[in-house]
Amino acid sequence: MANRIFLILFAALSVLQCKAVMPVLFGETLPDTDGKHVNAHGGNILKVDSVYYWYGESRGDSIAGFRQYGVACYTSSDLRNWQNRGLVFETSSQVGSPVESGCLMERPKVVYCPATGRYVMWFHHELKDRGYAAAQAAVATADNPLGPFHFSHSGRVNPGIYPLNMPQTDAAYNTALEWWTPEWRAEIERGMFVERDLESGQMARDQTIFIDTDGKAYHVYSSEDNLTLQIAELDSTYEKHTGRYIRIFPGGHNEAPALFRHGGKYWMVTSGCTGWDPNEARLLCADSVMGEWTQLPNPCRGENAARTFNGQSAYIYSDGQGGFTFMADIWRPKNLADSRHIWLPIQFDADGIPYIQAP
Ligand code: GAL
Repeated sequence: MANRIFLILFAALSVLQCKAVMPVLFGETLPDTDGKHVNAHGGNILKVDSVYYWYGESRGDSIAGFRQYGVACYTSSDLRNWQNRGLVFETSSQVGSPVESGCLMERPKVVYCPATGRYVMWFHHELKDRGYAAAQAAVATADNPLGPFHFSHSGRVNPGIYPLNMPQTDAAYNTALEWWTPEWRAEIERGMFVERDLESGQMARDQTIFIDTDGKAYHVYSSEDNLTLQIAELDSTYEKHTGRYIRIFPGGHNEAPALFRHGGKYWMVTSGCTGWDPNEARLLCADSVMGEWTQLPNPCRGENAARTFNGQSAYIYSDGQGGFTFMADIWRPKNLADSRHIWLPIQFDADGIPYIQAP
C-alpha cells in the first residue's frame, strides 16, 4: 500500500515537473545562464521534444543596433533559464550576397515542417544599405533546430498574382493623388499599391507564420507600404507561397501581427505603425484564416493598456494545451540589444473574447 501511494505521488510530481509554465515578463532585464540579457527580439518559441527554442533578432548594443549579424537562439527546459546558443543563422561576408552583413533580418519565425523534416525560418529581410525599401520575405532552412540555417531565397510575395479578395477592375488608379487625402485612401482601399507592386510581388515587412490545426501554414505580413495586412498561404514545404492570398483592412496600418486559434475562431493581435514607439494594440477576429476579419477593441487592460504596456506584439505562443502567451518587445532604439520582453497570459472574458491584463 505504502509503495502504491509513493508511486502515485512520484507520478504526480513527475507530471508537475514536466509542465513548464511560461513566466510573466514585464520589462525587467532577463539574464541568460551567462548573466547577459536575452538578446532575441521579434521572434518566436518552438518546442521540440522537451526543449524550448527561442529565436529572435540579435541586435547591437548601441545606435549601431541596426547592424545585425544573424538570428539568435536560446534554449531552455523550463522556459525560465535560457542558455545562449549563439547565432543559428548568420549574415554573409560575401559582397553582393542578399544576406551580406549589413542587411536587416527582423521578426524571424522558425517552424518545423513535417512534410520535409526541415526547420524553416522566415524573416523580414531588408537589403544592405537600402533602409526599409526592399521589403522582402526571406527563407532559411536547417535540419536541426539549432541550425545552422542556410539561406534559401528572398523576395517580394506572389509576383504577378492578384489577391483572392480584390475585385478586378479595368478602372485605372489615380496615382497622382496627394497621400493621406480621402481620395488617395479610397484608391489604396481599391488596391492601387497591389497593382503598383504586381510585377515585382507584394511588399512584406512585419511578419509572422501561423500554422493551423490542419497543418496548413500561412505567412501574415504588413504590405502595401505598411498600409494593408496580407495573408498568404504556404505550400506543404512551408518554404513557398502557393499564390493564394488575401488583403485585410486595406489602409488600416497594421503591423506586428501575432495569431492564435481558440474557441473555434482565429485571433490576431497587431499594432499600429509608429516605428519603435509603442501604440495601442488591435484585436482582429475571423472564422477562417483566409476569411473575413473583423476588428474588436484594444485587447490590453490595466496600466498603460493604451500603449500596449510600452511594447509591440511579436508572437503568441500556444502551449498546445489551451494556454496562450502574448509575447511583445519593449523596443529601445538607442540600444536595441537591451529591448525588453513582455510575456503575459492571454485570458478570455465571459464571451470568449481574449484580453491581456497588466500584472
Ligand atoms: C516597427 C516594426 C519593427 C521595426 C521598426 C523599425 O514598426 O514593427 O519590427 O521594423 O518599425 O522602425
